[in-house]
Amino acid sequence: MPRDALGHLVPGTLSAPRAVPAGIRRPEYVGRPEPSRFTGSDVYSPADIELIRESGRIAAQAVEAVGAAIRPGVTTDELDAVAHEFLVAHGAYPSTLGYRGFPKSCCTSINEVICHGIPDDTVLQNGDIVNVDITAFKNGMHGDLNKTFVVGSTTPEIADLVERTREALNRGIKAIAPGREVNVIGRAIESYAKRFGYGVIRDYTGHGVGSAFHSGLIIPHYDTPSFTTVMEVGMVFTIEPMLTLGTPGHPGTIAWDEWPDGWTVVTRDHSITAQFEHTLVVTERGADILTLP
Ligand code: MF3
Ligand code: CO
Ligand code: CO
Repeated sequence: MPRDALGHLVPGTLSAPRAVPAGIRRPEYVGRPEPSRFTGSDVYSPADIELIRESGRIAAQAVEAVGAAIRPGVTTDELDAVAHEFLVAHGAYPSTLGYRGFPKSCCTSINEVICHGIPDDTVLQNGDIVNVDITAFKNGMHGDLNKTFVVGSTTPEIADLVERTREALNRGIKAIAPGREVNVIGRAIESYAKRFGYGVIRDYTGHGVGSAFHSGLIIPHYDTPSFTTVMEVGMVFTIEPMLTLGTPGHPGTIAWDEWPDGWTVVTRDHSITAQFEHTLVVTERGADILTLP
C-alpha cells in the first residue's frame, strides 16, 4: 500500500464521502470555497468559553477513541471513520470536512508528514508515528486539538521526539499569562526544542479559534518578536508545535513540500516530525486547556 521503495509515504486512495446527519449544524464555510472573513473577537465571554470547552471535550474524546483504534494494520481511513462516527454521535460536525475542500473528518499525519495528512487506504505499520488532529463544531463553536501516537513500538530517537514535542506544547502553555505578548509562547517552545537539536516548523502556526475555525490571530511556535498581540483574559487560541528530527536550514527554516492534493505537507528530507495541539483560554492565573477529555 502507499509507500515507495524507500518506505516514504505516497498518496493513497480516498474512500467515499461520509455523511453528516441533517440535524447537525454545519459551519458557514461548508459547501463554499473558503470561510467568510472573521470579524469577531478572540476574547470570549465565560458562557461562550464553556461552549468552546464542550466542543473541545468532544474533540478530545474523539482523539482518544481514534487512539484506541491505532494498531499496525489499520488504515487511516478506518481511523477517520472512528472520528467521524464519534463526532456525529455527539451532535458535533467534523470541522475539517468541507473546510476549503478538505475531504475528511480528521487529519492523519504519518512520519514525515508535518500536518494536514488526508485519511486514505494507507496502512499503519509497527514503528510509524501518526498524528490525529480533530476539530469539533457544536453550538456554533470549534474546539481543536491533536496528538501524536506511536504505532506499536518505535526507536528511542523517535519516541523521544514525540515526548519532547508533547513537552514543548506544555512549555508553550506555561508561558501564557495576561499582559504578555503572544511571542513568549514561541520563545518557550523553540528554546526547549533547540536543546535537542530539533527543527521547529515556522510556516504553520497556532491560531485563534472559537466561533471561527481559524480567526486570523496567529501564534508562532518559534522565537520572533514581531507578533506583539497582548494576551488578555478570555482570549482563546491554539498552540500546536510541529518539531522535526531534520536539521534547520537558514534562517532556522525546515524545507517542506505540499503534495499535489493541496493539503499533505511533508519534510523535504523525509525527516520524522511530531505535533501536539490544544485549544487554550487565557485566565487571570495563566491558561486553561479547553480540549481535555
Ligand atoms: N485542525 C488543523 C489545525 O490545527 C487544521 C486542519 S484544516 C484541514 O489548525 F483542512 F486540513 F483539515
Ligand atoms: Co489548530
Ligand atoms: Co488541529
